[in-house]
Amino acid sequence: MSLSREQTLREMGLAPQWRLRAAPVEPASSVAVVVEPVAVVSLVPESATGLLNWDQLAAAVSSCHQCVLGEQRNQAVLGVGDRNADWLFVGEGPGAEEDARGEPFVGQAGKLLDSMLAAIGLKRGKDVYIANAVKCRPPNNRTPEPEESAACWPYLERQIELIEPKLIVALGRPAAQALLNAEVKIGAARGQIHRYREFPVIVTYHPAYLLRSLLDKSKAWEDLCFMRRTMRELQND
Ligand code: SF4
Ligand code: URA
Repeated sequence: MSLSREQTLREMGLAPQWRLRAAPVEPASSVAVVVEPVAVVSLVPESATGLLNWDQLAAAVSSCHQCVLGEQRNQAVLGVGDRNADWLFVGEGPGAEEDARGEPFVGQAGKLLDSMLAAIGLKRGKDVYIANAVKCRPPNNRTPEPEESAACWPYLERQIELIEPKLIVALGRPAAQALLNAEVKIGAARGQIHRYREFPVIVTYHPAYLLRSLLDKSKAWEDLCFMRRTMRELQND
């Protein structure tokens, strides 16, 4: 008889304790705001994932049903690459090919990501780890809902803790919003160093978007140069 994930976690002393992940407070407007910003907090299990090692994390993700995306996936896609990487790239969520193969960024967008990595002297798996904001494929490749990213956040959070990357690159809006726990517009947020806890975060366009938008490819190139420069500085610190 197999135990449910909750039972397993309880056996391991890791039963979820729900806490509120507070969103950054919006700047006060000139009008008195009487409503507390509780609408933008999300519930995440604090200790359910907090102590998991890689094998436990992979097992938890593969049997996860914390959101509706768990219902239609073929398999959850945890991530791929060097678990001691300086670079962590975070995408949106698996597509059809990723869902079939169990590896992130293996379709068209993945080819472009590989080229982007090559452009700054990087290679999948070598000092690079690739993950997604949600681990299960959204039906019809729709954008993950904020609640789905929030439900999946503890897994990415634990991946970051285990990898301890020097730099995190958010590919597109859902990844940026999950990492920065705020509304993000890529055009406004690129070219700056943001932070998730102590980890520097750079935001750029998603490769699937770049496949459709020639204009922004030159901006993506600027972002790649900015990333490489930032990493050099971080490595020299
Ligand atoms: Fe669980 Fe994340 Fe899959 Fe939702 S997307 S079922 S939270 S692993
Ligand atoms: N797009 C993503 O955001 N992630 C993948 O893994 C594949 C395509």
